[in-house]
Amino acid sequence: MAEELIVAQGTKKEKYETIVPQIRAIIEGETDLVANLANICAALKEQFDYLWVGFYLVKGGELVVSAFQGPVACTRIRKRKGVCGTAWAERKTIIVPDVEKFPGHIACSSLSRSEIVLPIIRAKEVLGVLDVDSIGLADFDETDEKYLQQIIDLIKF
Ligand code: SME
Repeated sequence: MAEELIVAQGTKKEKYETIVPQIRAIIEGETDLVANLANICAALKEQFDYLWVGFYLVKGGELVVSAFQGPVACTRIRKRKGVCGTAWAERKTIIVPDVEKFPGHIACSSLSRSEIVLPIIRAKEVLGVLDVDSIGLADFDETDEKYLQQIIDLIKF
Protein backbone atom coordinates (compact mmCIF):
# COMPACT_ATOMS: atom_id res chain seq x y z
CA MET A 1 0.00 0.00 0.00
CA ALA A 2 0.98 3.61 -0.42
CA GLU A 3 2.90 4.86 2.60
CA GLU A 4 0.84 8.01 2.74
CA LEU A 5 -1.34 8.53 5.80
CA ILE A 6 -4.63 10.39 5.52
CA VAL A 7 -5.21 12.36 8.70
CA ALA A 8 -8.60 13.71 9.74
CA GLN A 9 -9.74 16.96 11.27
CA GLY A 10 -12.75 16.86 13.55
CA THR A 11 -13.67 14.98 16.68
CA LYS A 12 -11.48 12.43 18.38
CA LYS A 13 -13.91 9.72 17.23
CA GLU A 14 -13.62 10.89 13.61
CA LYS A 15 -9.85 10.89 13.88
CA TYR A 16 -9.79 7.31 15.18
CA GLU A 17 -12.37 6.20 12.58
CA THR A 18 -10.01 7.53 9.90
CA ILE A 19 -6.82 6.13 11.34
CA VAL A 20 -7.82 2.63 12.53
CA PRO A 21 -8.65 1.22 9.06
CA GLN A 22 -5.38 2.62 7.72
CA ILE A 23 -3.44 1.02 10.57
CA ARG A 24 -5.22 -2.26 9.81
CA ALA A 25 -4.21 -1.98 6.14
CA ILE A 26 -0.60 -1.14 7.00
CA ILE A 27 -0.02 -4.02 9.40
CA GLU A 28 -2.28 -6.80 8.13
CA GLY A 29 0.13 -8.24 5.58
CA GLU A 30 3.25 -7.76 7.70
CA THR A 31 4.49 -10.35 10.17
CA ASP A 32 7.37 -8.40 11.71
CA LEU A 33 6.28 -7.27 15.16
CA VAL A 34 8.54 -4.24 15.58
CA ALA A 35 7.74 -3.02 12.06
CA ASN A 36 4.05 -3.08 12.95
CA LEU A 37 4.51 -1.48 16.37
CA ALA A 38 6.63 1.27 14.80
CA ASN A 39 4.03 2.07 12.14
CA ILE A 40 1.24 2.14 14.73
CA CYS A 41 3.22 4.70 16.76
CA ALA A 42 3.94 6.79 13.67
CA ALA A 43 0.30 6.78 12.55
CA LEU A 44 -1.02 7.75 16.00
CA LYS A 45 1.62 10.43 16.42
CA GLU A 46 0.87 11.89 13.00
CA GLN A 47 -2.89 11.93 13.55
CA PHE A 48 -3.00 13.19 17.14
CA ASP A 49 0.43 14.75 17.68
CA TYR A 50 0.57 13.41 21.22
CA LEU A 51 3.82 13.94 23.11
CA TRP A 52 4.76 10.27 23.30
CA VAL A 53 3.24 7.14 21.75
CA GLY A 54 4.96 3.85 22.33
CA PHE A 55 5.12 0.25 23.37
CA TYR A 56 6.85 -1.46 26.25
CA LEU A 57 7.21 -5.24 25.93
CA VAL A 58 7.63 -7.73 28.78
CA LYS A 59 11.14 -9.17 28.57
CA GLY A 60 12.91 -11.03 31.35
CA GLY A 61 10.32 -9.97 33.92
CA GLU A 62 10.48 -6.25 33.12
CA LEU A 63 8.89 -3.86 30.66
CA VAL A 64 11.48 -2.86 28.07
CA VAL A 65 10.84 0.06 25.75
CA SER A 66 10.15 -0.95 22.13
CA ALA A 67 8.93 1.09 19.16
CA PHE A 68 7.93 4.64 20.05
CA GLN A 69 7.59 8.20 18.77
CA GLY A 70 8.49 11.10 21.02
CA PRO A 71 11.21 12.10 23.47
CA VAL A 72 13.76 9.60 24.77
CA ALA A 73 12.05 7.40 27.39
CA CYS A 74 12.96 5.22 30.37
CA THR A 75 14.30 1.95 29.00
CA ARG A 76 13.05 -0.45 31.67
CA ILE A 77 10.07 -0.39 34.05
CA ARG A 78 9.48 -2.94 36.79
CA LYS A 79 6.15 -4.58 37.52
CA ARG A 80 3.84 -2.37 39.61
CA LYS A 81 6.07 0.69 38.97
CA GLY A 82 4.61 3.78 37.34
CA VAL A 83 1.46 3.77 35.26
CA CYS A 84 2.88 1.18 32.86
CA GLY A 85 3.96 -1.25 35.56
CA THR A 86 0.60 -0.82 37.29
CA ALA A 87 -1.38 -1.51 34.09
CA TRP A 88 0.75 -4.63 33.67
CA ALA A 89 0.28 -5.85 37.25
CA GLU A 90 -3.45 -5.07 37.37
CA ARG A 91 -4.05 -6.23 33.78
CA LYS A 92 -6.27 -3.28 33.04
CA THR A 93 -6.28 0.01 31.18
CA ILE A 94 -5.35 3.03 33.29
CA ILE A 95 -6.34 6.57 32.36
CA VAL A 96 -4.46 9.25 34.30
CA PRO A 97 -6.02 12.73 33.90
CA ASP A 98 -3.22 14.39 35.87
CA VAL A 99 0.09 12.56 36.18
CA GLU A 100 1.06 14.62 39.23
CA LYS A 101 -1.81 12.96 41.09
CA PHE A 102 -0.79 9.39 40.21
CA PRO A 103 1.46 8.11 43.02
CA GLY A 104 4.62 6.60 41.54
CA HIS A 105 4.14 8.05 38.06
CA ILE A 106 7.42 7.81 36.15
CA ALA A 107 8.10 11.15 34.46
CA CYS A 108 10.03 10.27 31.33
CA SER A 109 9.31 13.81 30.13
CA SER A 110 8.48 16.76 32.36
CA LEU A 111 6.09 17.95 29.64
CA SER A 112 3.72 15.02 30.09
CA ARG A 113 0.50 15.97 31.92
CA SER A 114 -1.92 13.10 31.20
CA GLU A 115 -1.56 9.52 30.08
CA ILE A 116 -3.35 6.32 29.04
CA VAL A 117 -1.79 2.86 29.31
CA LEU A 118 -3.41 -0.31 27.93
CA PRO A 119 -2.08 -3.79 28.64
CA ILE A 120 -1.60 -6.11 25.66
CA ILE A 121 -2.99 -9.49 26.69
CA ARG A 122 -2.75 -12.71 24.70
CA ALA A 123 -3.79 -16.10 26.11
CA LYS A 124 -4.26 -14.45 29.52
CA GLU A 125 -0.65 -13.26 29.56
CA VAL A 126 0.39 -9.60 29.51
CA LEU A 127 2.93 -9.27 26.70
CA GLY A 128 3.41 -5.52 26.95
CA VAL A 129 1.64 -2.18 27.14
CA LEU A 130 0.72 0.68 24.84
CA ASP A 131 1.45 4.04 26.48
CA VAL A 132 0.25 7.41 25.14
CA ASP A 133 1.24 10.67 26.84
CA SER A 134 -0.10 14.19 26.28
CA ILE A 135 1.06 17.65 27.24
CA GLY A 136 -2.59 18.49 27.97
CA LEU A 137 -4.42 17.67 31.19
CA ALA A 138 -7.21 15.07 31.01
CA ASP A 139 -6.71 14.38 27.30
CA PHE A 140 -7.77 10.71 27.43
CA ASP A 141 -11.16 9.07 27.93
CA GLU A 142 -13.23 6.00 26.98
CA THR A 143 -13.03 6.94 23.30
CA ASP A 144 -9.25 6.55 23.38
CA GLU A 145 -9.60 3.34 25.35
CA LYS A 146 -12.06 1.87 22.84
CA TYR A 147 -10.07 2.66 19.70
CA LEU A 148 -6.61 2.02 21.13
CA GLN A 149 -7.90 -1.38 22.24
CA GLN A 150 -9.09 -2.02 18.67
CA ILE A 151 -5.59 -1.19 17.46
CA ILE A 152 -4.01 -3.49 20.04
CA ASP A 153 -6.35 -6.28 18.94
CA LEU A 154 -4.96 -5.97 15.38
CA ILE A 155 -1.39 -6.76 16.49
CA LYS A 156 -0.21 -10.31 15.80
CA PHE A 157 2.39 -11.57 18.26
N1 SME B 1 4.89 7.59 32.50
C1 SME B 1 5.11 6.16 32.38
C2 SME B 1 6.52 5.85 31.99
C3 SME B 1 6.75 5.74 30.55
S1 SME B 1 6.92 7.17 29.76
O1 SME B 1 6.00 8.17 30.12
C4 SME B 1 7.23 7.08 28.20
C5 SME B 1 4.78 5.48 33.69
O2 SME B 1 4.53 6.13 34.70
O3 SME B 1 4.77 4.25 33.70
